[in-house]
Amino acid sequence: MNHWYFRPAAVLACGAIATTAACTPSDDAQDEVHHIEPDATEDVPSQNETDDPDVVAHRPEVALIDAPDVIADRRAAALVARLTTDEKIALVHGTGVPKIGFGTFPPEALKGAGYIPGIPRLGIPQVTSADSASGVNIDDVRATPLPAPVALAASWDTELAKEYGKRIAIELRTLGYTQALGGGLNLAREPRSGRTFEYMGEDPVLGGEMLASRTIGTQSQKVLATVKHYAMNGHETNRAASDSQVDERTMRETELLAFEIAVKRGKPASVMCAYNKVNGTYACENPYLLTDVLKKEWGFKGVVQSDWAATHSTVPAALAGLDEEQPSVPEGVTVPPGFGPFFSTELRAAVDRGEVPMSRLNDMVHRKLRTLIRIGVFDAPPTPGGAIDEEAGQALALAVAQQSSVLLKNATVPGMAQKALPLTAANLSSIVVVGGHADVGVLSGGGSGAVPPPDGNAVSGCQEPAPEPGTLPIPRCATWYKSAPLAAIQAKAPQATVTYFDGTDAEAAASAAENADVAIVFATQWETEALDLPTLSLPDPTTDPINQSYDQNMLIETVASKAKRTVVVLETGSPVTMPWIDHVHAVLEAWYPGVRGGQAIADLLFGDVNPSGKLPITFPKRDADLPQATISSSDPIVRYTEGLLMGYRWYDAKRIEPLFPFGHGLSYTTFGYSGMVATANAMGNVTISFTVTNEGPVAGAETAQVYATLPKDLKQPPLRLVAWKKEWLAPGESRTLRFVVPAQRLATWDVTTHAWKVNEGLYRFMAASSSRDPHALTKSVMLTRAGR
Ligand code: BGC
Repeated sequence: MNHWYFRPAAVLACGAIATTAACTPSDDAQDEVHHIEPDATEDVPSQNETDDPDVVAHRPEVALIDAPDVIADRRAAALVARLTTDEKIALVHGTGVPKIGFGTFPPEALKGAGYIPGIPRLGIPQVTSADSASGVNIDDVRATPLPAPVALAASWDTELAKEYGKRIAIELRTLGYTQALGGGLNLAREPRSGRTFEYMGEDPVLGGEMLASRTIGTQSQKVLATVKHYAMNGHETNRAASDSQVDERTMRETELLAFEIAVKRGKPASVMCAYNKVNGTYACENPYLLTDVLKKEWGFKGVVQSDWAATHSTVPAALAGLDEEQPSVPEGVTVPPGFGPFFSTELRAAVDRGEVPMSRLNDMVHRKLRTLIRIGVFDAPPTPGGAIDEEAGQALALAVAQQSSVLLKNATVPGMAQKALPLTAANLSSIVVVGGHADVGVLSGGGSGAVPPPDGNAVSGCQEPAPEPGTLPIPRCATWYKSAPLAAIQAKAPQATVTYFDGTDAEAAASAAENADVAIVFATQWETEALDLPTLSLPDPTTDPINQSYDQNMLIETVASKAKRTVVVLETGSPVTMPWIDHVHAVLEAWYPGVRGGQAIADLLFGDVNPSGKLPITFPKRDADLPQATISSSDPIVRYTEGLLMGYRWYDAKRIEPLFPFGHGLSYTTFGYSGMVATANAMGNVTISFTVTNEGPVAGAETAQVYATLPKDLKQPPLRLVAWKKEWLAPGESRTLRFVVPAQRLATWDVTTHAWKVNEGLYRFMAASSSRDPHALTKSVMLTRAGR
């Protein structure tokens, strides 16, 4: 016997992972109990010290029965018993899309993406839902556009993620909304996906933990949170018809692991099933995904909600585990293709015919009611009409932008003693700022993940193409928030002459840059739902004719060829390739930095804030280095041929040097790592400690990362992220960090037992500043069943 399992059965019995010793263990795990040292239960995982279910599971005194859960179930059951069949049907589908006037609604439906009426006679509140990827996506209200979720992921800060989710919920409630449709968790298997900005990068543990925290933040404000799009919705091309063909182990160790963490720790109200098929069956009628994994194995007690027009049937979907169709339009109403009456008139008929048992309909309704009760919406529904606290929103937007921007490169400028950044105002008499509409604002992503600009679009004149007949309109013109980096830069260096060139005349910009102390070139990459990027090359008029009027790579090359010091600021949702990288001195990735983005960029460039973001996604050198050559627009089958090699795992296994690796991010100070110790206990949990020292002259934050290399015979990718911690350190300050990596993080998915398995063998741990840190510390630990 050379391994031990985390069996799904144990999960169901105890409601948390890693509970084999305390709950309903397999035979293997029962053996394991005899080897536990008295102190083994004190060795709790530390990634999220207060709310990680793994931590709770190891504490013997923790009650296994959650009283509010029991109460919610009792109250929900009593309500279900009093509902008529028609009332039940009314609770399991939306009635249209109020935002675009599709469907008929009372005024209290508000202007979100979805609406389900309440049942006043039983006090059941209506559900008004709004897209909320980066803030509240409702027209004509002054909600806060936060930096994009990919930026949040780059902060690597779970507390910040909680604040992000909380802020969105506070604004939703103020406006009278019940449900936040966000965040998204599809891993960046394909970085050209047009929704990369809406997601959390390429690592399942980073993404899962960040989204769990965000969800906890949202639901702490009595707002339902949706986690989406479940699952394997890797890109946008053909999204309604594509079929992700992926083997069980790849699914479980990549994207499903991210969802597993988010669902178990975040306990979202809803999980939104995706448009695509998974292994031949639509995600919204996929019994494996919805019932076997999500509900039975992970113990999800909330509502499976379809993506908008992602329901394709009544009986198969209902029996597979779908609980809510969004939206469902009664027969006879003319609707765009894809919308059906599946969970309205057809579900009623299927229940009457006995094809969908009443018990299944009751379960759908029970899930909805117990969730409304559990999260506090039932007893305290929101009331609309409040005013958003814009100051509080903007303060968070600024903080997230400051903590998520990633300093990718910062070289010494020839002839100068110091590095290109930070800029020192006193030493600058002339600054040239070029391109990216930096004179008026900062970029944001499009589609349902957008947040309308509170003060109007900073860039006007873009012409929307006519929408395809029969489809819902998705804007193709980029949105820019009125937070101009140019003004913020000028304010930092009031005595300097700051000149702006819009980028259309590269030669003119370069000539001016030749005589300036520094040239700051802004480059942007707009992306949106429903449209993938053709390439990771910065957009030009051929790849984004609607939004991009000049060749950005050419502009950067031209300016860099003349300027004394060239700094590039990127506003992108995905990685970009940088053919000019050796010719510029510094690169700052600001993502879509939100409504205070201009200020945050200036704060970072001038060193008033020390950059601390780390890449949640690999930046490859060229498109050809990606696992998939192209995104096919003709072949609906999406083959996950790279298997487990998602993101950095691909580059590591194939020995491809990325442009910037996962986890990379520089600071204006330097950090030293020392004194690494690693020990394992009998449960397979590994305790790791090391000291991080701020060795430079200024205060800064370091995200110290821990990666594991699994025993060779397991044929796993070379590295997996297992823990991290972001620490602020004063100059000269040292801190010893202690992590307990739960055995679960070291497990592999066993396709014969369909369970997580922790394997015996030699594990190598790396404490590092990035996934490719040349100064990384390493220690190896032997895991055996006796823990020695
Ligand atoms: C998107 C979802 C979104 C829904 C409602 C769909 O097109 O995929 O993420 O929540 O629309 O707007």
